[in-house]
Amino acid sequence: MSNITIVGCGYVGLVTGAVLSKLGNNVIGVDIDSERIAKLNAGICPIYEPGLVELINEQSRNGKLRFTTKYEEAIPDSRFVFICVNTPPSPHGGADMRFVRNAAREIGRNLSVQHKTIVINKSTMPPGSGDMVEAILSEEAQPEAEFAVVANPEFLREGSALHDMLNPDRIVLGSKDQEAAEAVASLYSSFTCPILLTNIRTAEMIKYAANAFLAMKISFINEMAQICEAIGADVRQVSTGIGLDKRIGTYFLQAGIGFGGSCFPKDAQALEYVASISDCYPRILKAVLEVNRESRRKFVTKIDKVVGGLYGKTVGVWGLAFKANTDDIREAPALDIIPELLSRGANVKVYDPAAMENARRILPERVSFCENAYAAAENAHVLAIVTDWEQFRSIDLIKVKKLMTTSKIVDGRNIFDPELVRGLGFEYVGIGIPC
Ligand code: UGA
Repeated sequence: MSNITIVGCGYVGLVTGAVLSKLGNNVIGVDIDSERIAKLNAGICPIYEPGLVELINEQSRNGKLRFTTKYEEAIPDSRFVFICVNTPPSPHGGADMRFVRNAAREIGRNLSVQHKTIVINKSTMPPGSGDMVEAILSEEAQPEAEFAVVANPEFLREGSALHDMLNPDRIVLGSKDQEAAEAVASLYSSFTCPILLTNIRTAEMIKYAANAFLAMKISFINEMAQICEAIGADVRQVSTGIGLDKRIGTYFLQAGIGFGGSCFPKDAQALEYVASISDCYPRILKAVLEVNRESRRKFVTKIDKVVGGLYGKTVGVWGLAFKANTDDIREAPALDIIPELLSRGANVKVYDPAAMENARRILPERVSFCENAYAAAENAHVLAIVTDWEQFRSIDLIKVKKLMTTSKIVDGRNIFDPELVRGLGFEYVGIGIPC
C-alpha cells in the first residue's frame, strides 16, 4: 500500500486514482479547478463514465480516496505522483504542454526531502516530455529532494475505462531509473499482463504509435468501404474476412464515419508535428487524417443524395457523442456533419442519450434538441445515424417509420441489418454496403 497523488482530476486522473485506490493505495487527487474538487468531495463526478462515480464514492467512503486543490497537502507525503493533466492541441498541431509544465513546477516545489518521490507521466505527452518534466523538477525542487521520472502511458478507452485499466494488455514503463520503474511496476503487481521496461522516449513513442496505428486501421477500412461501395462488395464481410487473419486482427475494422474523440485526431496531429520538426515526412499519418476528414464529408453527400437535395429537408440525427457510452463530443463527427447539413439548407433535429448538454453549448441554435430518438425521427425526411448507441439498435423501427415523412436511413455506423431494415420498407444506405 502506497501514498499516491494524482495531479489532474480529469478523465485519466479520475480513472487512475479510483483504480489505484481500489487496489489498496491511499490516493489524493489534486486539481486547480476548485469547483471540480468541491463536486468530487460532494460525491458528484464531473465526467460521464460507466461505473466511475460509484467507484469514486465507494473509495471516498472507505477513506482511500480524497480530493484537494492544494499541492502542499498532497505531494510531500506521496511516494508516487502521477501527472494526469490534459495536453490539448495547440495551434501548430503539437500538444499544448502548459498544464504539464505548471503541474511539474508545483510538484517540484512541494517535493519531500525525507524520501524519494517517483513522478509518473500518465498524460499523453509527446516524446521528449519526460526530459522536460525532469528539468522542471530539478529547477524547482530543493537540492536535497530526491526524485525520478517514469513515463507510464495509459491505453484506456472512454466508455470502458475501468475495465480497460483493470485488464490492460500491457504496461509500459519508461525511465532511466530502473529501480523507480520497478517500483511503479509493483503498483500493478496484481495484473497478469506483460510489463515492458524502456527508456522514456520509447515509452512516449509507444503511446503515439499505438494510437496512430489504431487510427490507421479505421481510415484503412473506411477507404476499403469506399471501394466496396463502388464495386458492390460488403465491407462488413471484408472486415471479418481479413480480421480472421491473426496478423491483422478483428479489432478497429468497423467502417463508419471515421474516428473522433480527444485522442486519435489530436495524437495523430501531434505525432505529425513531432515528425515534421524532426525532419521526417509522415506520409501515412497525413493520409490517415485526410481519409478521416473525407469520411465525414462523404457522409453528408450521401444524405444529400438520398433525399434528392438537402435544401428544406428535415434530417433526424441520432447520436452526437464521438462514440457510444460517453457524453464526450470532442472532435465528434457530429460537430462537422451537423453544420454541413445546416449549410446545405437542411433542418436538423438531434438526439443523443448522454451528450445533449455538451452539444447544446457548441451547436448552432437552429438545431432542434429532441427528448428521445423517436422525437428526432418525427417528420424527418431522412434519419442519419452518427453514433452507435445500443439503444438505437434495439429501437422500434416500425414506430420510427410511422413518425417519419419519408422512410430513409443513412447509417454512418452500420448498426442495422440492411435486409431487415429494407424489409420493413425503409430506403437504407450504410457505409460500404451494397445498395
Ligand atoms: C483511444 C484508444 O482506443 C485508447 O487505447 C487510448 O488510450 C485513448 O484513445 C487515449 O489515447 O486516451 P478512445 O478515444 O476512448 O480511445 O476511443 P476508441 O474506442 O478508440 O474510439 C475512437 C474513435 O474511433 C471513435 O470515434 C470510434 O467510433 C471510432 N472507431 C473505432 C471506428 O470508427 N471504427 C472502429 O472499428 C473503432
